[in-house]
Amino acid sequence: MTPTKNTRPSIAPAKGKLAVLTPGMGAVATTFYAGVEAIKRGMAKPIGSYTQMGQVRLGKRTENRFKAVKDVVPLASLDQIVFGGWDIFAENAYEAAKHAQVLEKDLIEALKVPLSKIKPMPAVFDREFVKRIDGPNVKKGRTKMDLADQLRADIRNFMKDNGCDRAVMVWCASTEVYTPPTAIHQSLKTFEEGLRGNDPAISPSQIYTYAALMERVPYANGSPNVSVEMPCLQELAQEMATPICGSDFKTGQTLLKTVIAPGLRNRQLGVAGWYSTNILGNRDGEVLDDPGSFKSKEVSKTGVLTDILSAERYPDLYKEIHHIVRINYYPPRGDNKEGWDNIDIFGWLGYPMQIKVNFLCRDSILAAPIVLDLALFMDLAGRANMRGIQEWLSFYFKAPIVKRGLTPEHDLSVQLLKLENTLRFFTGEELINHLGLTYYGVDEGTDEGAEA
Ligand SMILES: NC(=O)c1ccc[n+]([C@@H]2O[C@H](COP(=O)([O-])OP(=O)(O)OC[C@H]3O[C@@H](n4cnc5c(N)ncnc54)[C@H](O)[C@@H]3O)[C@@H](O)[C@H]2O)c1
Repeated sequence: MTPTKNTRPSIAPAKGKLAVLTPGMGAVATTFYAGVEAIKRGMAKPIGSYTQMGQVRLGKRTENRFKAVKDVVPLASLDQIVFGGWDIFAENAYEAAKHAQVLEKDLIEALKVPLSKIKPMPAVFDREFVKRIDGPNVKKGRTKMDLADQLRADIRNFMKDNGCDRAVMVWCASTEVYTPPTAIHQSLKTFEEGLRGNDPAISPSQIYTYAALMERVPYANGSPNVSVEMPCLQELAQEMATPICGSDFKTGQTLLKTVIAPGLRNRQLGVAGWYSTNILGNRDGEVLDDPGSFKSKEVSKTGVLTDILSAERYPDLYKEIHHIVRINYYPPRGDNKEGWDNIDIFGWLGYPMQIKVNFLCRDSILAAPIVLDLALFMDLAGRANMRGIQEWLSFYFKAPIVKRGLTPEHDLSVQLLKLENTLRFFTGEELINHLGLTYYGVDEGTDEGAEA
């Protein structure tokens, strides 16, 4: 049953093993697997993971009651996770982690045994959608529906072979070329006809999404590929009563954008231009060097400012913003991306000012904890019988999907409030609106409504 307003969902316990399946076993996925294995062994702390380190305030401020996220809602523990994945390269996760050059050699060697066990299943891949790479570990099928059926069989076999009770899928594979919805994406019926008829507009990521949903496996999209946005796949998520969320992990430059831009807007400061550029040398950077794949990234990266700095609502402040995003493939940097932002702002009486941000980040180090949180929260959503778009997980995405006709919320703090209130809702705790009216002489914390 889908929870209605004020109806607390009943949540099945997190019993048994959870399969976390990642299409793509590259830099992000292997940093995620290795990180979880290292944390399980007490070799490192889960820094950057809200499910592992976050706290939620419960009740009124005066109660001073904070609980760890994982004690508020019943999440699967790290020990219950079994990793699986697909990749076009046949190397196991130990070899792929070495190849990715994100983690130190000593750490990878210390985790050789668990990582070597994670072997990629043959991928559904089409060079029309990712032009800069090619590999041998690829499925063959007469139609795209055949390929979807093979993925469905992979999911079922993986769960059986590993004794898993549930599974979630988080897309960690390459960014595909930008493919806006076509007529066949408008309904499930036309999409399934398209799968059977090998429609060229159906991408591999859409086939994975379809297969996951058909198996009632919650699906999160970590790339800007257009999959969970498609009306046909949203319809399927509803029909199969399965959660979906996306798109594109919010990790570095865009994370900071969704902190800084709402701050400027909240103080009614104008923005004349925002120039963002990046250098990146990993395989993701190589794929994004193709204009088609870059277009997908550009769309998800630029939408953020359009929504936060609404020219329609604030024409005097944001009507003429020049927002430019560039990513340049620069091999010497590997996974250690460098991003520069130049922000031209203006204040009182229109006087101009500038902000410069130089973020020397590590792409996969920022993305790995997001994969973990999404896997655990999507499993929770599945056990709570949530279906369709999970807007409360917008916190993790550059381009959060929302119901048709709504504008996504990009402000990181507002996204967190929504996430926290959803966790309170799950457990029947009072929702918090931060009203905190004390100046009417209300004795906060003892009077009803002093702070809901
Ligand atoms: N790292 C970040 O900060 C970050 C942020 C947002 C989004 N992302 C997205 O996450 C994804 C993964 O990034 P990465 O750095 O790990 O890239 P990567 O190139 O290291 O890994 C991607 C892997 O996917 C494989 N692959 C490609 N197409 C496939 C398919 N159809 N099926 C199965 N495997 C396939 C590739 O062979 C490769 O091993 C990319 O789409 C990237 O844009 C990353």
